[in-house]
Amino acid sequence: MALPADRPAASALLDRFGREATDLRISLTDRCNLRCTYCMPAEGLPFLAPPALMSLDEITRFARIAVTQFGVRQVRFTGGEPLLRKDLVEIVRAVAALDPRPEISLTTNAIGLSSRAQALADAGLDRINVSLDSIHPETFAKITRRPFLDRVLGGIDAVRAAGLRSTKINAVLMPGINDHQAVELLEWALAGGHQLRFIEQMPLDADHTWERESMITAAGIRERLGVRYLLTADDAPRDGAPAELFEVRERALGSDSPVLGLVGIIASVSEPFCADCRRTRLTAEGAVRSCLFSHTETDLLGPLRAGADDTELADLWRSAMWAKPSGHQMNAAGFTQPDRPMSAIGG
Ligand code: 5AD
Ligand code: SF4
Repeated sequence: MALPADRPAASALLDRFGREATDLRISLTDRCNLRCTYCMPAEGLPFLAPPALMSLDEITRFARIAVTQFGVRQVRFTGGEPLLRKDLVEIVRAVAALDPRPEISLTTNAIGLSSRAQALADAGLDRINVSLDSIHPETFAKITRRPFLDRVLGGIDAVRAAGLRSTKINAVLMPGINDHQAVELLEWALAGGHQLRFIEQMPLDADHTWERESMITAAGIRERLGVRYLLTADDAPRDGAPAELFEVRERALGSDSPVLGLVGIIASVSEPFCADCRRTRLTAEGAVRSCLFSHTETDLLGPLRAGADDTELADLWRSAMWAKPSGHQMNAAGFTQPDRPMSAIGG
């Protein structure tokens, strides 16, 4: 591929809008053992055949290119559900052995985590984000279409027992399904010492049923939490993090009362943070996506398997990121949802 005339030749992962990607998200599989309504259809999707997925060695090679040539400092494994990879512990260990060692995190639904939390921690996993939208078994089963709440809660406890600190909980609120449980979910997270982050529902569901009119916005989330809690914007620099953080206090006790913890709100739709985006993504089949909402991808795994060297792979990756759009354009006329749902991209 010819070098775009205006792209610096050897460099970090830059784009035309002055952003630098230092946070790599690697999807390890497109499969999942849940069927969250905002992500997958009830019957599942046609999943990739195992040989199409990046292997342990291929993942390690891409991660090495990212940390040594681009200065990537954070690697997050996502899915589908990354715990479905039998070699997840080995993958974490291999990436933790890179020099410089990146910070390693996992976004998971926590099913199957209880038996592997210690091995993952020992292999070098630093942090975990668990997706959990409700602590009511019936609501959980309605959203995920599976009755597995106990396993998720067991997984969260196991992570703590394994010594990993600051587990984050990601929740999506849906009108009439779990939005009335927002206060209760926060109360549960504060009691357990977890940082809860509410994510605005994005148009990334396989069924294409997302509607802007019914989506619960960041303002709607603050309103629901405000019934019980007083939220004060945290003034620490956001540093490219998608969540806006708020200090939480009991409303009844007033603004001088102790801070109970922090809550985050990820307003991807109503208050986009694209201008400060520091992410680059690899799909489970080894293609670069410069944005969650990209309509194009750049295959790296095909060239790797055809014998490309690290310099060539790095160059393809840089060109893919150089073409990163300024933003997702979700609020512009003519926006179209990407073909892939979240499970096939990686959050
Ligand atoms: N909108 C917002 N968040 C979503 N996730 C999955 N699909 C969507 C969507 N359509 C979340 C999951 C998980 C993270 C990776 O992304 O709940 O926490
Ligand atoms: Fe699975 Fe995550 Fe999609 Fe739920 S949101 S179906 S846990 S990939």
